[in-house]
Amino acid sequence: MSQPHLRTVVVLAAGEGKRMKSSLPKVLHPLLGRTLLGHVLAAAGPLSADRTVVVVGHGADQVRAHLTEVAPAATPVLQERQLGTGHAVRIALDAVPDAAGTVVVINGDVPLLRPETVAALVEAHEGAAAAATVLAAEVPDPTGLGRIVRDTDGRLAQIVEERDATPQQRALREINAGIYAFDAVRLREALGKLSTDNDQGEEYLTDVFALLRDAGEPVAVHRAADHVETLGCNDRVELAGLRRLLRDRVNEGWMRTGVSLLDPHTTWIDVTVTLERDAVVDQNTQLRGATTVGAGASVGPDTTLVDTTVGEGASVVRSHAVGAEVGPQASVGPYAYLRPESRLARKAKVGTFVETKKATIGEGSKVPHLSYVGDATIGDHSNIGAATVFVNYDGVHKHHTTIGSHARTGADNMFVAPVRVGDGAYTAAGSVITGDVPAGAMAVARGQQRNVEGWVLRKRAGTAAADAARQARDGEAGPGGAASEGD
Ligand code: UD1
Ligand code: MG
Repeated sequence: MSQPHLRTVVVLAAGEGKRMKSSLPKVLHPLLGRTLLGHVLAAAGPLSADRTVVVVGHGADQVRAHLTEVAPAATPVLQERQLGTGHAVRIALDAVPDAAGTVVVINGDVPLLRPETVAALVEAHEGAAAAATVLAAEVPDPTGLGRIVRDTDGRLAQIVEERDATPQQRALREINAGIYAFDAVRLREALGKLSTDNDQGEEYLTDVFALLRDAGEPVAVHRAADHVETLGCNDRVELAGLRRLLRDRVNEGWMRTGVSLLDPHTTWIDVTVTLERDAVVDQNTQLRGATTVGAGASVGPDTTLVDTTVGEGASVVRSHAVGAEVGPQASVGPYAYLRPESRLARKAKVGTFVETKKATIGEGSKVPHLSYVGDATIGDHSNIGAATVFVNYDGVHKHHTTIGSHARTGADNMFVAPVRVGDGAYTAAGSVITGDVPAGAMAVARGQQRNVEGWVLRKRAGTAAADAARQARDGEAGPGGAASEGD
């Protein structure tokens, strides 16, 4: 026989979120590195619940697919029709018949909730041996939320939805955050007694409180320290507001650990990003996903890094990188685009208007200007001339170019892959390199220059060019020469 579960987390995520006006279920909308649902699951994470149940409904397939990615241990439970939060929890508990101890219920749309707050709620609930404890907050604007109604002794009497509330109750600013801890056994009993006698004709989870209280069970209110944590998300305007609040929280956290953010209001750092001490982030910069920024590195302004590693002391200026690795003290930009599997070794440089993809650029090697480096390996301490293209695609397949160490390739080269340039080799400017270049060789692969003397004078007589050419020729021919006048 399996052990009874001591803690069960139930996340309610079946609602449609109509006001989002989206084909994406509300709980899957992203917010600085996680979905709304992902944030809620992360907040519940440290409870180390024995079981996590997520009630899915609208967009169930999408939500389930997301869960397998971010929380494979969680059990999705389908609520086919959204008959209310009480109904949702009832269905969730049916899926965990052996759940005992504490059941923590969290609405799926409160992404600013912090793990410490959930832990404090559960601790207060278990410490008081309460039957049910609701997380409450005093908010400036309670519109649309359930109100905490207290009796004359200040104890919880009931939770009333706004649409069912009297004018006096509506004036209350203490609200239900939609986060609760329950005793599993007593919750199950009370859920069996819920009515749908309310304005929406739904089974309200919140009615459990009055039911338990009327049965003489201890019910409690736990106050959130900061009401911001309890903010829900109903439309995209609110989502944007939550994003700003989370940005400020994340940014403050990094500044307190020794990271400089030169303009925190235009710096957007996903909760999944890490930065080391003395990193400097300049304005208009987004750091996303699994990005890491090493000690003393500087990033920005006007830079977006997605899943990118920036080594110690490296610098990335006005650039966009996805899935790239920038080595220690390497330098990127301004105006570079690093695509996936771009790997810059220590002190490597990818300069202005340079795009790289699946490219390894060795220690101290430089691609300073106006180039595309795709499917390439460049050794150490080599220099790639301006305006070079690694011609990697024959229209069907991609091919690789290998450049050795200490190579110097000329400006405006085409490396037509597959091709190899050996260590210490040079290539001439304007070359189209289609064959391998041995170590130490100089490759020249371009047409010879031919000057057709006097062509402009003959073929373009009467033009400004022809006049200029004639003056230049006469000046050269004359004694002393016009060119020697002045200095
Ligand atoms: C609920 C609370 C309200 C509280 C507010 C906090 C109830 C009756 N009311 O109201 O007191 O102040 O949250 O944000 O609980 N859901 C399901 N299945 C359903 C219905 C809802 O999974 O059948 C999910 C939704 O996806 C959502 C959560 O439960 O994540 C809350 O539902 P919602 O409709 O937003 O409830 P509110 O009216 O906001
Ligand atoms: Mg809601």
